[in-house]
Amino acid sequence: MNVAFFSTKPYDRRFFEAANASAHHTITYLEPRLTAATAPLARGSAAVCAFVNDQLDAAVLTTLAGGGTRLIALRSAGYNHVDLVAAKRLGLAVVHVPVYSPHAVAEHTVALILALNRQIYRAYNRVREGNFSIDGLLGFDLHGKTVGLVGLGKIGDCVAHILHGFGCRVLAVDPMPLAEGLKSIVTVVPLDEMLAAADVVSLHCPLTPTTRHLINAATIARMKRGVMLINTSRGALVDTAAVVEALLAGKIGYLGLDVYEDEADLFYEDRSNRLIADDVFSRLLTLPNVLITGHQAFFTNEALTTIASTTLQAVTDFAASRPAAFALVAPPARAG
Ligand code: NAI
Repeated sequence: MNVAFFSTKPYDRRFFEAANASAHHTITYLEPRLTAATAPLARGSAAVCAFVNDQLDAAVLTTLAGGGTRLIALRSAGYNHVDLVAAKRLGLAVVHVPVYSPHAVAEHTVALILALNRQIYRAYNRVREGNFSIDGLLGFDLHGKTVGLVGLGKIGDCVAHILHGFGCRVLAVDPMPLAEGLKSIVTVVPLDEMLAAADVVSLHCPLTPTTRHLINAATIARMKRGVMLINTSRGALVDTAAVVEALLAGKIGYLGLDVYEDEADLFYEDRSNRLIADDVFSRLLTLPNVLITGHQAFFTNEALTTIASTTLQAVTDFAASRPAAFALVAPPARAG
């Protein structure tokens, strides 16, 4: 099957070429992000493979469908950037990769917590410059602290297990019933109760209209003074302007982000020779208690191997008219 692959990076090509050695699809690797301007590049490709910052709104989907595309294969778990209603209306099937490595994201979450707490990034710079003073690098024991997780799905479950191992008390907020394996290590509480008790708040729920700006001025007000906030889920879960205010006021003591509300115009490119025009993001970069990574929590060897094989299997299944295992929108029923 012809697949137009948007937002290609060298690592995508490496992992997808390896997986395609047995799948035998014809993949056209395109560097641009998928937008209204670049969508015509997919003309004639029955499948389009897209990533988290590709644009898949109704206008782009209409162009893709008009050019002969019938399958959107997301090489991500999150699908908040896809207009699924428009896809269905246009007869486009949509698949994603719901599980590739929750451990990758959970371990990165814990890396952010540890690095922020012990200020590893500042210590690294000091030692490289011959400054061996530890003044200003005081941390706290994670052991005995309360961690509050919003979302206790696959990633939240892994984070809960790791932090339980550190000796933390783990509270969680999730509308779904608590999995049996978590009952002995997690206490599910209402959001307000968790916010009032947690020393570290970490977000692991999807971005939906209900969870958009879940962390805002009002919810921040309910948190402990000096709380650590971690977001490795989706940027718009957090009202970033409100978080900046809270950082400046000392209400939030530490901020760890792998995702950012307006990351689409920043992440995954080398912008070191250009000015960053985003004032909120620039402000965050000036604060010593803020640690940001550029949406890389998924980025492990194991995760990329599974993403590539699962995505290409979905394309193969679609080509063979087999039901896809991870369909967000099923293909239209064929007449006759
Ligand atoms: P999942 O679907 O297994 O779990 C999500 C959990 O959130 C579910 O248990 C659900 O009941 C819960 N939830 C939904 N609405 C909620 C609410 N209002 N309050 C509290 N809980 C709520 O998803 P998974 O695999 O754990 O991934 C979580 C998120 O992580 C994804 O939606 C995605 O946005 C993000 N992610 C980030 C990556 C990165 O590289 N930074 C990579 C992969 C996923």
